[in-house]
Amino acid sequence: MKPIKVGLLGMGTVGSGTFNVLKRNQEEIQRRAGRGIEIAMVADLDVARAQALVGEGVQVVGDARAVIANPEIDIVIELIGGYGIAKALVMEAIAAGKHVVTANKALLAVHGTEIFAAAQAKGVMVAFEAAVAGGIPIIKALREGLTANSIQWVAGIINGTTNFILSEMRDKGLDFADVLKEAQRLGYAEADPTFDIEGVDAAHKVTLMSAIAFGIPVQFDKAYVEGITKLGAADIKYAEQLGYRIKLLGITKRTAQGIELRVHPSLVPTQRLIANVEGAMNAVMVQGDAVGTTLYYGKGAGSEPTASAVIADLVDITRLHTADPLNRVPHLAFQPGSMSSLAVLPMSEVVTSYYLRLRVADQAGVLAKVTGLLADAGISIDAVLQREADQVSQADENQTDVIILTHDTREGTLNDVLAQMQALPTVMAPIVRIRKEELN
Ligand code: HSE
Repeated sequence: MKPIKVGLLGMGTVGSGTFNVLKRNQEEIQRRAGRGIEIAMVADLDVARAQALVGEGVQVVGDARAVIANPEIDIVIELIGGYGIAKALVMEAIAAGKHVVTANKALLAVHGTEIFAAAQAKGVMVAFEAAVAGGIPIIKALREGLTANSIQWVAGIINGTTNFILSEMRDKGLDFADVLKEAQRLGYAEADPTFDIEGVDAAHKVTLMSAIAFGIPVQFDKAYVEGITKLGAADIKYAEQLGYRIKLLGITKRTAQGIELRVHPSLVPTQRLIANVEGAMNAVMVQGDAVGTTLYYGKGAGSEPTASAVIADLVDITRLHTADPLNRVPHLAFQPGSMSSLAVLPMSEVVTSYYLRLRVADQAGVLAKVTGLLADAGISIDAVLQREADQVSQADENQTDVIILTHDTREGTLNDVLAQMQALPTVMAPIVRIRKEELN
């Protein structure tokens, strides 16, 4: 059988990894797919550089639309990124009847509903394993491997840049800004790291996992997003003393009231495997009613790890592209006519537990006042720690840090209590609040 022909848009790090791995492992990939997979055309703004990477046997063009217009091409790989031209090209490729493989989490998290509907109407597939956690086959696991389960929650370290920064902060006792500079120098963080450090990249990824886990539309606009820029070395140290590590988690959970969809720093018990995922690595935990807890670990970025996911999608499409569209795996795991309208909950309705750090005047009755406010709101305390605060001036001498771990409570209830605590004259600095996930 003739090879299936692929057009690749964007010959960057992942594009060249995809080309190289396909070439290196072509014989085994063909035996798995049932026919050859050939990158027949590449589009990149830097034609000469791309041509040098792929050699003379592959046609390289500067205009991505020339790839989409080529009737020989069956599958278009979009590796341009972003919402702009990438969206136009994906929609045009679908309209031209091409299957699409993309690593573009931002595009799918924001415009996924429109893109999947267009693909459904045209009878083509949009595959996106590489969009979440790079080389870890988490989309495959959620869409297919765990299909028997009612999934209860998904929680993941799905951004390598921030996990690297948090690992360094803990190892070296440094504050966020110092580690960020070092991460940029070493190439672990982008020159503009905003999407990573503000939690946006992780929110794109958890939005996609939420849709697949619960059969709801992709709703990035409903996600609660908080990054790691305000974390200090002191809180990482205190968390450690209480038996926790701080990780940036993407969490989505099914509750009786609706779906939780959130990204924020979280205390995780040190004894959980996921708490020990360090450096730029990624890991995702999935809790299903039948399987129990499962954990997926690996590289969440990089040329060949991400290429591994792109090529897995190429093989899936090659195997399925002659199948009746009704017999393919649905884009979001659930049949398009059977999506759920379960609402994504506002953050105030989320129920979780908390780490609080208060810089207080070291006087009689201060702790009683603070814990009294929690008691009045029905919030139960799990642990309390008092530590001599790092003093920044003579005036701070009679101040101390009080760290409180709470049991589960509704976030809206805690917010009201925090406002009352903050107003106490003996609370000397903004209260630090970090959410805590037991993940058991
Ligand atoms: N910038 C991402 C990370 C990789 O740091 O994990 C691509 O999503």
